Amino acid sequence: MRVCVDGGSCVGHGRCYDVAPALFEDDEEGYCVVKGDGSVPDGQADAARRAVALCPERAITLAE
Ligand code: F3S
Repeated sequence: MRVCVDGGSCVGHGRCYDVAPALFEDDEEGYCVVKGDGSVPDGQADAARRAVALCPERAITLAE
């Protein structure tokens, strides 16, 4: 499983890195940055799904 962020859709709500700090971080302007290559480690799948569900801009996608 891998997470991806559409940088054109992200407006910096910050919910993704609040609920899944192992997967996302913020850049200097508060926009989402995927950590590493976006691979979701064991134990982080639920956090990844929460981030997808909570982003109001639907900027985060999950690929199996
Ligand atoms: Fe951006 Fe959505 Fe996160 S708008 S900062 S990807 S909650």
